[in-house]
Amino acid sequence: MEYNSDIKNIIVIPSHIGIIMDGNGRWAKKRNLPRSSGHVAGASNFKKITRYAAKIGVKHLTMYAFSTENWKRPKAEISALMTLFKVYLEDALQNFLDENIKINFLGDTSAFPNSLQNLIRDVIDVSSKKTGMVLNLAMNYGGRTEISDAVKCIVRD
Ligand code: FPP
Repeated sequence: MEYNSDIKNIIVIPSHIGIIMDGNGRWAKKRNLPRSSGHVAGASNFKKITRYAAKIGVKHLTMYAFSTENWKRPKAEISALMTLFKVYLEDALQNFLDENIKINFLGDTSAFPNSLQNLIRDVIDVSSKKTGMVLNLAMNYGGRTEISDAVKCIVRD
């Protein structure tokens, strides 16, 4: 994807873009590849999209990466996704943060393996002072879960 510095003069840049990734498995199946290859290709595209969105001046980018329902997938696929999350976040720590991108997490990340939770903490920590595009990663997120968590909070208060 080429960045055209004149793009801001041609189109209106949305301030917030939300992406729900879908079709990774079908993309892979069409090519006789395992579903996990579809996720690898999806993550790589999303990396390009993140950088491009930041460059053209999008203020917020929200990506639905893993739903509360996704835990029902085969173990091997979940394990491949956990590895991909790590690779993506390690790359983000090395590169995105230099590009002033701030990363937030939506969802209950306490369900992820400890190594991934530590990485998430590092990203939040390093990210906290960044002032550029906000990248919201929805991981172990679900609309119903969010509502029921909010109700539990209200009852507790
Ligand atoms: C939906 O495609 C995709 C997912 C459930 C996983 C998406 C996440 C990644 C690729 C990792 C990216 C990492 C970060 C941190 C942004 P699908 O499996 O539902 O495809 P299908 O509809 O063809 O079955």
